[in-house]
Amino acid sequence: MKKTYKIGVIRGDGIGPEIIDEAIKVLDSVCTNEDFELSYEEYLMGGIAYDLKGTPLPDETIEGCLKSDAVLFGAIGGQKWDNLPRQFRPESGLLKLRKELGLFANLRPTAVFDELLDASTLKPEVLKGVDLFVVRELTGGIYFGEPRGNDGTKAYNTMVYTKPEIERIAKVAFESAMKRRKVVCSVDKANVLEVSQLWRDTVIEVAQAYPEVTLTHMYVDNAAMQLVRNPAQFDVILTGNIFGDILSDEASMISGSIGLLPSASIGGSVGLYEPIHGSAPDIAGQGIANPIATILSASMMLRFALGEEKAADRIESAIKKVLQEGYRTKDLAAYGAKEVCSTTQMGSIIADYVSRI
Ligand code: IPM
Ligand code: MG
Repeated sequence: MKKTYKIGVIRGDGIGPEIIDEAIKVLDSVCTNEDFELSYEEYLMGGIAYDLKGTPLPDETIEGCLKSDAVLFGAIGGQKWDNLPRQFRPESGLLKLRKELGLFANLRPTAVFDELLDASTLKPEVLKGVDLFVVRELTGGIYFGEPRGNDGTKAYNTMVYTKPEIERIAKVAFESAMKRRKVVCSVDKANVLEVSQLWRDTVIEVAQAYPEVTLTHMYVDNAAMQLVRNPAQFDVILTGNIFGDILSDEASMISGSIGLLPSASIGGSVGLYEPIHGSAPDIAGQGIANPIATILSASMMLRFALGEEKAADRIESAIKKVLQEGYRTKDLAAYGAKEVCSTTQMGSIIADYVSRI
């Protein structure tokens, strides 16, 4: 009997449903040669949940996710919901889900595919050897700090971190570094913010338990500059919620397309795996979205949530191969394309390669 993992699936808005379909296609293909199966249960979140249920995060979604072994998520949001009060906006659903599932650590790898060096806005010589890993704190900082408010003449948010919150995310960064090149760069604004001073002091304390790891510190403004000046200098970047949000979008451009980058949110009993890009409503339904970021997120899910390393490796090798062979979705059509394919064609080609590895 094959074991069966329960996967919660949130398709969401915009291109979310299209890219999730392709990730499931590839997962099903990988399973045929493995000793496990996946069963999928769909849950609503985002604008579609607001439209159908009156809330961007129905209780059934939280309960269903908690019963799953892992959750695969597409994307949420769109102009249609932009003018709703904050608590009804699709983004609030995602933020609440992260909090409810205790997903305090967001892992965002950025690597370059040699075939796509020209697709980046940076010069190819700057990109050689880039392989970095952003560890972003996800359930604290200014996103969640109280007090917050806006009375029309004055508005405020609070950036707050407690020592335990910093300790646990720092541990994730050091553990990640131990499996990589053993270098952590902690990014803060300790020259200005008290919260960053505590951040820095705490990271230095946590580092004592990891003598093999080299720890450096960088102010966030400098880090933003260094990421485009010399991104290859970084291994693990450890940072808080809002700095990580900004820096990980910046880092994504190094690889040439935001459509290539996956992420994992972990820390609670169930992890959430999603592409780092958004719902791209402008191209939704046209069959041109790049499903690779979501397929790579599915691979991260196999690796981190289910411990199915071999299956994850097979997906990653298939993607490399497909790019080497010159298959490209429209976003990358100008870069070494032998054949430009639609979202579903790209999913099918990857699924086919996976079945042959
Ligand atoms: C991300 C997104 C979210 C964030 C939004 C959609 C709330 O930008 O996952 O990076 O800011 O965390
Ligand atoms: Mg973001």
